[in-house]
Amino acid sequence: MKPLFLTLLAAHLALAPALAAAGDRPMPPPQAPALWDYITKTSPYTKWSQWPDYSGVRRSRSPHGPYNQVYANQAALRSTKAPLNYGAIQVKASQTEDGKLKDVLVMYKAKGYSPKTGDWFWAMYTPQGRPLAAGKPAGCIRCHSAMGDNDYVLAHQFR
Ligand code: HEC
Repeated sequence: MKPLFLTLLAAHLALAPALAAAGDRPMPPPQAPALWDYITKTSPYTKWSQWPDYSGVRRSRSPHGPYNQVYANQAALRSTKAPLNYGAIQVKASQTEDGKLKDVLVMYKAKGYSPKTGDWFWAMYTPQGRPLAAGKPAGCIRCHSAMGDNDYVLAHQFR
């Protein structure tokens, strides 16, 4: 018979990966409903930080707005150069003149999702989470391509 401690050690090693996975928050698949759940329930974007060179309420240069705030998760903020780390999510909360949430625009860097366009999954939602566009919308990509060497990011400039 094996000594008890060996049996316990084996059991512990077998369980360790499962426990580690349960402790982390698994990233969502690149799909509009799963991503909305992630950014509002699993890891609410309003508690994330912002790019140091684009924080607080800003006037939009884009068709969305007229105002916006951009939030970025840790995987995004830890990226020191383009391209961003996989798992990076940026959320642009576009706001009306009087500060009400107008729509929620998201870029999510998902490995293998779309190698030709930076592996970004794009989505636009109503404040209630109804997707208005999702996937690889040509409009989002065309405008953001202006900053292709900055990994399609317009609010923050990598150096
Ligand atoms: C005509 C240009 C244009 C189009 C089309 C556009 N954007 Fe943007 N986007 C911008 C600009 C400019 C910014 C920088 C913030 C600002 O001024 O609003 C931005 C910022 C963002 C950000 C914050 C991160 C970053 O890259 O700066 C997200 C997320 C985003 N857009 C998502 C989308 C999605 C999703 C779509 C399509 C549904 C889209 N955008 C379409 C111009 C555009």
